[in-house]
Amino acid sequence: MTPKRLFIQEVVTRDGFQAESQFVPTAEKIQLINRLSNAGYAKIEVTSFTSPKAIPMLADAEQVMQGIKRNPGIEYTALIPNLKGAQRAGAVHVDEFNLVMSASEAHNQANLRMSRSDSAAALHAVIAFANQAGIASNVSLSTSFGCPIAGAISLKDLMHWVDYFANLGVRGLTICDTTGMANPAQVKAVCYAVQDKYPHIQWTLHFHNTRGMGLANALAAVEAGIVRFDSSLGGLGGCPYAPGATGNICTEELVHMFDLMGYDTNMNLDLLLECSNDLQTLIGRKLPSQLLMAGKVDRLHSAPQQP
Ligand code: COA
Ligand code: ZN
Repeated sequence: MTPKRLFIQEVVTRDGFQAESQFVPTAEKIQLINRLSNAGYAKIEVTSFTSPKAIPMLADAEQVMQGIKRNPGIEYTALIPNLKGAQRAGAVHVDEFNLVMSASEAHNQANLRMSRSDSAAALHAVIAFANQAGIASNVSLSTSFGCPIAGAISLKDLMHWVDYFANLGVRGLTICDTTGMANPAQVKAVCYAVQDKYPHIQWTLHFHNTRGMGLANALAAVEAGIVRFDSSLGGLGGCPYAPGATGNICTEELVHMFDLMGYDTNMNLDLLLECSNDLQTLIGRKLPSQLLMAGKVDRLHSAPQQP
């Protein structure tokens, strides 16, 4: 039987770098993306075309997008908050617009400074712009499994926004657990519900490991038929406008787990580990990647000396 293909989407240079306190130099961002472009990803989220006042760490979005060497097998996507961002991203030829709004009213206000219905209307205009320009659009629904400000998000509430964007003809939707509130049972229920209703949408699951449930949630999603995942090299990341947010699930840990289970991730794990190790030097601290510390399961040790 051919192994089931999974699609890995890197977010470290967007979700990871947006929350760093020190600006990562443009040349370093470009160099990292160029190295990662040889690792087998389906997509790389390069940056975000947000207001430089809101996200100063990614104020160099145009330079990064224009500086990278694109691998034709990879889609280079970027996060877009509004029409202005879409126009900026369109001018430098991103392959996909990744639009963002929250399933939670309170987080939408904190992150995007508007109501969900205003966001929905604004994103409608961005999707129309994308369609006209022939650019694929994906909508990432933040706080889909729970909001750090407002608490639980019901499946009914989430489905309301899924319905809205599915009916606008987006290619993909990403269900995001922005602050690691999801549990595997909830993930399965949500994954079955959205895929049953919209089997033709390209579904992505985006987990953060804030409460240690990240990989368990990814496994639950795979068991429910999901094949696309966002993840971040070394586990770096977190929304600066979500209290208590921490890193995404770690790309090398996700790939290591799925490869051992016999899935086909198409990824070069050794290259990922090298890049993750170098990223620690770049940001000047240890990353939360446990795989980086322990090594792959085939790393053997000499037996401890007998006393
Ligand atoms: N790119 C560049 N500049 C932008 C912009 C964009 N996409 N959107 C707005 N701006 C600028 C405006 O031109 C304006 O500039 P000025 O003060 O020099 O005139 C300023 O930002 C304010 O514009 P306004 O329309 O009032 O937006 P805002 O201040 O309410 O910001 C967002 C709204 C959503 C654009 C902003 O909060 C944002 O980019 N947030 C980022 C959210 C994010 O990425 N979160 C983490 C990931 S989930
Ligand atoms: Zn995230």
